[in-house]
Amino acid sequence: MKPQIQALAAEPVIRLEDVQRHFGSVHALKSVSFSLFAGRALALVGESGCGKTTCARIIARLDRASGGKLLFRGQDRTARGTGSEERLYRKDVQMVFQDPFASLNPAFTINHHIARPLQLHGDDKPKAERDDEISKLLESVGLDPAVTRQKFPHELSGGQRQRVNIARALAVSPSVLVADEPTSMLDVSIRKDILDLLARVKRENDLAMLYITHDIATAAHVAEEIVVMFAGQMVEWGHTATVLAAPKHPYTQLLLSAVPDGGRRFVTGGSARFLEQAEKIRALTRPISTAVEQVGDNHYMRALVASN
Ligand SMILES: Nc1ncnc2c1ncn2[C@@H]1O[C@H](COP(=O)(O)OP(=O)(O)O)[C@@H](O)[C@H]1O
Ligand SMILES: [Mg+2]
Repeated sequence: MKPQIQALAAEPVIRLEDVQRHFGSVHALKSVSFSLFAGRALALVGESGCGKTTCARIIARLDRASGGKLLFRGQDRTARGTGSEERLYRKDVQMVFQDPFASLNPAFTINHHIARPLQLHGDDKPKAERDDEISKLLESVGLDPAVTRQKFPHELSGGQRQRVNIARALAVSPSVLVADEPTSMLDVSIRKDILDLLARVKRENDLAMLYITHDIATAAHVAEEIVVMFAGQMVEWGHTATVLAAPKHPYTQLLLSAVPDGGRRFVTGGSARFLEQAEKIRALTRPISTAVEQVGDNHYMRALVASN
């Protein structure tokens, strides 16, 4: 028997299409287009102020695009939907923020933080069943439920708090997880553990994940695909390993050159030399080019000189 149609590429869970965002005269996003797929992560990488959080907030519907489209499972969700559509979307698309402390309420136990989304989004379950669910969620992020449940946020380390935030996001069985610089406020020694955890929960829950970082060295830990952003536009994107092995855009090359040898530290940028180089690249990429060059298999870059 002949297959009826050739294997279709998986449909994206989330798609941004030519998304723009202005804040007054600040053009935070110029034309951003990418897709998130189930069971895969995309790393959004670039220096502070390049527009990463704006992308995250638009995907999580905490902000609206000034132009372009937001698609969810092929449906245009750019415009505000009905109350129940918006609630369902917010359940499906969860976010983990940079500051693991600010997102937890100091007055409540960890148990409460996990129980609450289960109550809000789940059906009414007997207490024993709910307790069991809370324990499983805490275990799934590497926390001992017996020790952790009755603690308050201030009694946990930053890494443990971020684990709680991940468990809380998973409590509502989302299909999308947006992690905005989830390790940048954590101790360097535990960053890799949290990234490994994100990679595992992505796999186990078939999550479409957006992993945002200013640290290009960490992209490969979590993400199959990468988008490098510079000044509100995508400058290079594609398969993470390919882009990192043979970066073509000078900005990607600059980011990689700032990664210290041997992975001693997970940081980039900030130095005077880095900022000076970035300024040169800014001049090089102005005016904005709309031309995109394919430079390899699943590897693209924005042309350096405007095509018109
Ligand atoms: N609510 C806002 N009002 C005004 N400007 C904003 C707002 N949010 C972001 N911006 C501006 O948009 C640009 C991108 O910001 P952001 O998305 O936070 O970057 P990143 O997360 O990469 O550091 C910056 O120039 C920032 O100052
Ligand atoms: Mg940010």
